[in-house]
Amino acid sequence: MSGIRPLERRDLDDVAALFDQVMGTGTSSRAQIARYFERTLLDDPWADPDIPSLVHETAEGSIIGFIGASTRRLRVDGRPARLAVSSNLVVDPDWRTRGVGALLLRRLMAGPQDLTLADRSNDDSLKMWRELGGQELVHASVGWYRILRPGRAVGALMDLQEREGLVRRVARGVARPIDALAPRVRRLAAEPGEPAGTREPLTIEGLLEQMSSIGRRLRLYPDYDEAFLSWALDEVAAVPRIGRPVARLVRAANGRVLGWFVYVLPEHGVAQVLQLCATGSDPEPVVDHLFRQAFDDGAAVVQGRLEPRLSGVLSRPGVVVRRSARALVASEDSTALALLGSTKSLMSHLDGEWLVSMARRL
Ligand SMILES: CC(C)(COP(=O)(O)OP(=O)(O)OC[C@H]1O[C@@H](n2cnc3c(N)ncnc32)[C@H](O)[C@@H]1OP(=O)(O)O)[C@@H](O)C(=O)NCCC(=O)NCCS
Repeated sequence: MSGIRPLERRDLDDVAALFDQVMGTGTSSRAQIARYFERTLLDDPWADPDIPSLVHETAEGSIIGFIGASTRRLRVDGRPARLAVSSNLVVDPDWRTRGVGALLLRRLMAGPQDLTLADRSNDDSLKMWRELGGQELVHASVGWYRILRPGRAVGALMDLQEREGLVRRVARGVARPIDALAPRVRRLAAEPGEPAGTREPLTIEGLLEQMSSIGRRLRLYPDYDEAFLSWALDEVAAVPRIGRPVARLVRAANGRVLGWFVYVLPEHGVAQVLQLCATGSDPEPVVDHLFRQAFDDGAAVVQGRLEPRLSGVLSRPGVVVRRSARALVASEDSTALALLGSTKSLMSHLDGEWLVSMARRL
């Protein structure tokens, strides 16, 4: 029978082969990609049979289209809600422009979830999402970069873009001399000062404890449990190429919790923020601690998304802004949609496509 059906374990090798045909394997093998999809899409503790990943097969049984689906549990104004995260949409080049991609996405969007999100999308996806009633979350499609070590930043950002070759070697060659000059070039990137207060390792229990009271201040946020966070952080650690995870709880000098941050850091590279949350009304002290921790850890750059609460980052020295992957969302729930663009929500890379987008970097 041809058409769309839920992904099954027996499909994984064919899906990995299709993914390779369309996207290439990057630094991974097909077998690794098949295991990755099994781990992240089928064995996710929040995997929900009502919102499955989907394949499109021909009458002969060949898989010619695939879309990943992950369910994330949210609280919206106190009530439980489901977010479907769409990922890894690929269609066999011989079957393009016949509606296969749009049909897969439409089927996923028609599920029982309250919201559907894809936050590492490209322009092709944007067109399909718009035609199917979705929209761009503009703030989450903008990346900010705090340059910490200007010389090394060039090479580190090129690593991030996965570019190889001579330019990067040259960039690395001049990195140290430029870094040595950097303190004199304040406009480029001043070394972040040591902020008041303290940082301590953030544990899963610590994060759950903070999340248990976050509803007093936020109206839309992930409804984490121990099973999900252990799985998600194990998944981050399982891909060493993206760097080591760093998670810190930030306290004021009087011991009051100000917030926390989580990032991944490849050696001398770009620290990529996975989550930053302030428990009070002012995120700036948490950002100060983030910059200082990343500097102390040897990062060349800290990269984050322009969450509504983080607009203050834009006026800081050493910060540049660039469009990043597109964040797209669809929902019939106008309250939830409005909250996503407000300072009353927490939606981070731990909750979106990021965790399921490493297939080519294993
Ligand atoms: C992006 C991709 C999945 C699209 O797959 P596809 O099957 O060729 O797409 P469709 O045929 O459904 O859509 C193609 C076009 O028809 C339109 N379309 C066709 N049927 C449609 C329908 N029923 N509803 C809405 N739009 C439809 C689409 O908007 C699109 O418009 P365009 O031709 O002007 O660009 C495919 O090109 C691909 O695998 N690309 C490489 C991987 C990739 O970039 N994936 C996205 C990752 S973020």
